[in-house]
Amino acid sequence: MFSEKIQTGLKKQLIRELESSQLYLSMASWTEEKGFDGICEFLYDHSNEERNHMLKLIRYINKRGGSAVVSLPNQSSILFKEFSLHSTLKELFQKSFEQEKKISSEINKLVELSLQEKDYFTHNFLQWYIEEQIEEETLSKMILNKIELIGEEKIGFYLFDRDIKENYCYVTKKKKTR
Ligand code: FEO
Repeated sequence: MFSEKIQTGLKKQLIRELESSQLYLSMASWTEEKGFDGICEFLYDHSNEERNHMLKLIRYINKRGGSAVVSLPNQSSILFKEFSLHSTLKELFQKSFEQEKKISSEINKLVELSLQEKDYFTHNFLQWYIEEQIEEETLSKMILNKIELIGEEKIGFYLFDRDIKENYCYVTKKKKTR
């Protein structure tokens, strides 16, 4: 049975995924402005991935006979303003890590709810998100660690940008396997 409680939980999650997508879009735009060619590609890819997480939820809700219509919180701008001239790359990736931890915690709550509601279909569906969150938390923490190692060295950031472009961009990786 696809309960109202489960539907409401999944709809809230789809809004969070949309917000994540916009957050990464803002970060991508900011890094592009700053000339980080590799990091911006990585973040644009990540924004698309978050949008796919949202789509997956919409399609699942519809498949179960629910309705994925949601009201969005008032958003006056597509790009968040918090990534201003004064932000740093370290702050940006700290924010990314915090965001991923927040999403993981919400996914855990949804898994708990699916068990309470005895909705084993949803429980099974959410396993994909758990795997995804393990990967995303690990990746954002690893990037943050690298930034901490670099410290203030400009050449370090240049090499880091190249490393991200060569090893972590979805588009780049796909091209390499063609
Ligand atoms: Fe879809 Fe990064 O959480």
